[in-house]
Amino acid sequence: MELNLTTLPDYLRQRHAEIRVFEPEAELRIEEIGDGNLNTVYRVSDAARPARSLVLKHAPPYIKILGPDYPLSTERLTFESRALDVYNRLASGTVPVLYDFDVDAAVIAMEDLRDAYVLRDALIAGTVDTAIAEQVGRFMGIVHSHTYVDNIGAATAQHYRQQFANATMQSITADYVFTFPFTEHETNFWTPGLAPDVQHLKADTGFLRQAEHLKRIFLTAQQGVTHGDLHTGSVLVQDNTAKVIDAEFAFYGPVGFDLGLYWANYFLSYFSHQGNLSVQSALKTAVVQVWDTYTAEFTMTDAGLKSEMLENIFQDAVGFAGLEMLRRLIGAAHVKDIEGIVDLSRKLSVESAALQFGTTLVKQHRSLRDVAVLIAMLS
Ligand SMILES: Nc1ncnc2c1ncn2[C@@H]1O[C@H](COP(=O)(O)OP(=O)(O)OP(=O)(O)O)[C@@H](O)[C@H]1O
Ligand SMILES: [Mg+2]
Repeated sequence: MELNLTTLPDYLRQRHAEIRVFEPEAELRIEEIGDGNLNTVYRVSDAARPARSLVLKHAPPYIKILGPDYPLSTERLTFESRALDVYNRLASGTVPVLYDFDVDAAVIAMEDLRDAYVLRDALIAGTVDTAIAEQVGRFMGIVHSHTYVDNIGAATAQHYRQQFANATMQSITADYVFTFPFTEHETNFWTPGLAPDVQHLKADTGFLRQAEHLKRIFLTAQQGVTHGDLHTGSVLVQDNTAKVIDAEFAFYGPVGFDLGLYWANYFLSYFSHQGNLSVQSALKTAVVQVWDTYTAEFTMTDAGLKSEMLENIFQDAVGFAGLEMLRRLIGAAHVKDIEGIVDLSRKLSVESAALQFGTTLVKQHRSLRDVAVLIAMLS
């Protein structure tokens, strides 16, 4: 059955025993709420009791916004449902509760985070709640330290490796974050005035060498359960609580990738708020708090080699942060924080500063020792 607004009521009735949120005879209200590129997301509620609701995420066997000519395995939702299982077990309350995963229909039914807002939108509005950054730092710290290869037995590590062998999605990231932005590729675009900076970057052999090195780490390091797409659009905030969503890229990989993506999106916000010193200062504090709560979780789980392990994660994260910033400026998928700047000369100055900073992070990531040094580079 093809799933759409018309067929969904029947689907939900058939799946009643598994989902168990609605009475079988309930009249259901269904609306499409997703704003994403890959999947369709619906909110379903009981017409008589609207407080009874859930969210359905459906993966068609192709990229939703491009259509059936662009096939993409529905297996992405299997990885998302496995990640939700792991997150709920290790860090309950940090992600939506998983109600049901239907592998044949490629549908996840999960808790409806009602009245939540997307973290990116709050940052765009200049509202920086450092407590949210701490919660996301703690979430990453818990998941990474409890799945980290050196902290768990060989059999458990092997189990995670198999459960999260998400090669298809990993290869999409390898292309769109590590390769395409720095080559001639049809999906790249940038503000015309940025062309000289882009040309310079693409000819910088020192930069290209580091980008290649980070790509190799991304594709080969098998350290822990990595969300794989943890930008500020993948965090919803409900009642002052951060909830992480959209784990379809989850894989067993270099955990610094999550920190790097999350930081990069705070840095992009930082540059977008050029001239607003109080917002910029709060964003810098948030970046530090993420690291502090992250490392606190790691130091709580006992194992040797902590400081070496954390320094390695830190340096990977800095390098990944640089590449994420760059691909959001010159690759296929830009961020609203910057695309929304209407004054074009201001936009260009923001982009140029962000591009310089991202490049520096990539080139210098192996020599940075701690988060204070990282933050000092912003002033
Ligand atoms: N559990 C939930 N509760 C409330 N809203 C949700 C929930 N899950 C998703 N949403 C809404 O749907 C949107 C899209 O969800 P999600 O990012 O998982 O979809 P996606 O198709 O994978 O997106 P992308 O193309 O960005 O990867 C979210 O930004 C959010 O607004
Ligand atoms: Mg997604």
